[in-house]
Amino acid sequence: MKVIDVNTGRPYPIYIDHGILGVAGSYIRERSSAVRAVIVSDSNVAPLYAERVAASLREYGFETSLFVFEAGEERKRLSTIEAIYNHFYEHNITRTDVAVALGGGVTGDMTGFAAASYLRGIDFVQIPTTLLSQVDSSVGGKTGVDLPGGKNLVGAFWQPTLVLIDPDTLDTLPQKFFNDGMGEVIKYGCIKSPSLFEKLEKENVRDILDDIIYECVDIKREVVVNDERDTGERAILNFGHTFGHALEKLSGYSGITHGEAVALGALLITSVTEEKGITEQGTSERIRSLLKKYDMPCETSFSMCEILDATRGDKKSSGNGLSFIFLREIGTCFINRIGFDKIKEFFGYAEDREL
Ligand SMILES: NC(=O)c1ccc[n+]([C@@H]2O[C@H](COP(=O)([O-])OP(=O)(O)OC[C@H]3O[C@@H](n4cnc5c(N)ncnc54)[C@H](O)[C@@H]3O)[C@@H](O)[C@H]2O)c1
Repeated sequence: MKVIDVNTGRPYPIYIDHGILGVAGSYIRERSSAVRAVIVSDSNVAPLYAERVAASLREYGFETSLFVFEAGEERKRLSTIEAIYNHFYEHNITRTDVAVALGGGVTGDMTGFAAASYLRGIDFVQIPTTLLSQVDSSVGGKTGVDLPGGKNLVGAFWQPTLVLIDPDTLDTLPQKFFNDGMGEVIKYGCIKSPSLFEKLEKENVRDILDDIIYECVDIKREVVVNDERDTGERAILNFGHTFGHALEKLSGYSGITHGEAVALGALLITSVTEEKGITEQGTSERIRSLLKKYDMPCETSFSMCEILDATRGDKKSSGNGLSFIFLREIGTCFINRIGFDKIKEFFGYAEDREL
């Protein structure tokens, strides 16, 4: 068992252990005197794991209920939140009861948002079941939903009271979604940990998953604790995301997964900053080799001009500019803010030019 304590305004522990899902009730009881526990899960995850979690909760005296929504990002909407509120209401959830998010990032973000706002805030526990949610979204307290105009436009900061990570759940996760998480894992190595990056180069990630999850979560913990409300350093977690989101947008949100886009975005931006002498020579080649090793795309048919155009409207834009995260070398990064009128000039792509 690995334990990480997150010392945010409302501190909470993260437990990582094989099989912890089946004894979730005992850990939740340690941190909650709730009478009722609502499990929120999606249509893929609930049939696999919900009964195991519910049985353990009942063993520790919780009255349980289950809310299941149709799996998929398309359901990360206010209409699903309303349905969750109605479930809470119909099951007499009070301010001292607890919601349990069982699933990937979509489930965690929505359960957290419903918990943050129902009766002005009830406790919630994260039991993440995708690699992405285990290494990233279950930690840090960002919750919310999408609007038709864009992802994660409505939300709240609301920390969980506990995170239980069971690496065994990844056995049932389709490869495509595993890759989504790998994009984030590679990102952590790039921005904060040369040793994690080397491990990913030398070993097979599936053989050392517990260590990898632990290291990623610990990096996220450190960044989040230093900047809980995302007003400064937390922006480094967006490394690769500005170009990644642009690639997703250009691809019409199909054909490339979010994680693949982030990893490719990391490669593209590092190729440019290396060419400009900002990043140590050879860094982009190391990222490229890693992407190849994990079967992630290393090329795009879009020109740099198209990608730069598509960064307009990015969530990380504010005022008249956009914050980019650059690497100095593997493991060291910094935030660089560039005015909209200077972006193409900065990247040396004032003219349309193929990468
Ligand atoms: N809050 C944050 O800090 C943060 C950070 C990064 C991403 N996110 C959000 O996370 C979401 C993406 O998360 P995700 O990739 O986990 O997506 P997801 O929750 O949709 O899960 C991906 C797919 O895997 C299935 N699944 C989940 N666990 C499974 C398992 N163990 N076995 C079999 N199938 C399983 C799900 O049903 C779904 O079809 C996005 O909405 C993104 O905005 C949030």
